[in-house]
Amino acid sequence: MNKDRESIKKAFQLFETGKIDTFEVGTTKGLKQIHHYIFEGIYDFAGKIRGQNISKGGFRFASALYLDEVLKKIEQMPEHNFENVVAKYVEMNIAHPFLDGNGRSMRIWLDMILKKSLGQVVNWQHVDKSLYLQAMERSPINDLELRTLLSDHLTRKINDRTIIFKGIEQSYYYEGYRKEDDELYYF
Ligand SMILES: Nc1ncnc2c1ncn2[C@@H]1O[C@H](COP(=O)(O)OP(=O)(O)O)[C@@H](O)[C@H]1O
Ligand SMILES: [Mg+2]
Repeated sequence: MNKDRESIKKAFQLFETGKIDTFEVGTTKGLKQIHHYIFEGIYDFAGKIRGQNISKGGFRFASALYLDEVLKKIEQMPEHNFENVVAKYVEMNIAHPFLDGNGRSMRIWLDMILKKSLGQVVNWQHVDKSLYLQAMERSPINDLELRTLLSDHLTRKINDRTIIFKGIEQSYYYEGYRKEDDELYYF
C-alpha cells in the first residue's frame, strides 16, 4: 500500500476511534501525538522533532538549532479568538518541526484548537488547494489572506463525520494524494 494511503487510513482511525480526544490541544506534545499516530510505521521520524534544517519554495523554516526554544514559545501563544489561533498556526508552520508531514498533522492540530476555543472547525473540503497553498506561502509575511480564506469556511458542525473525513481527504490532496485512486472506504 502506498504511504499516503496508509497514512490517510490512520488519520481516519484517529477520529473514528476517538483517540484524537485523548491528545493535548494546542501544545507541541499534542502535535507530536498527532504526527506519531498518522505516520507510525510509515516514517521512522513519526512524532520526532527534526535535527536538520529544511526549506520549501525558497522559504527556510526555523533553524533546527533553535527549534526546541521556538516550540516552547509557540505553545504558549493564546487561543482565545480566531486571529490568535491563526497566528499560532502560522508560527507553528514557520517552525515546521518535522522532516515531512507538517501540513497534514498541523491542520488536524489547528482544528482541535478551533474546536476547543471557538466550537468551530475548518470545512476543508471547500478550501481550494491553490488558494490555500498560496496563502500559506504568504503567511510568514502577512496572514490576512489565510485568515480570510479560513474564516470563510468555518463551521459549527464539529461532530459531522462527512465534514471530518472529507476534510482529511482534502488535506491529503493538498499534499499530492489523489482521492480518485481510492474508493471512499469511510462510509
Ligand atoms: N513556501 C512555503 N512557505 C510556508 N509554508 C509552506 C510553503 N510551502 C508549503 N508550506 C506549508 O507546508 C505544508 C507542507 O509541509 P510538509 O511537511 O511537506 O507536510 P505534508 O507532508 O503533510 O505535506 C503545506 O501544506 C503548507 O501548509
Ligand atoms: Mg510533504
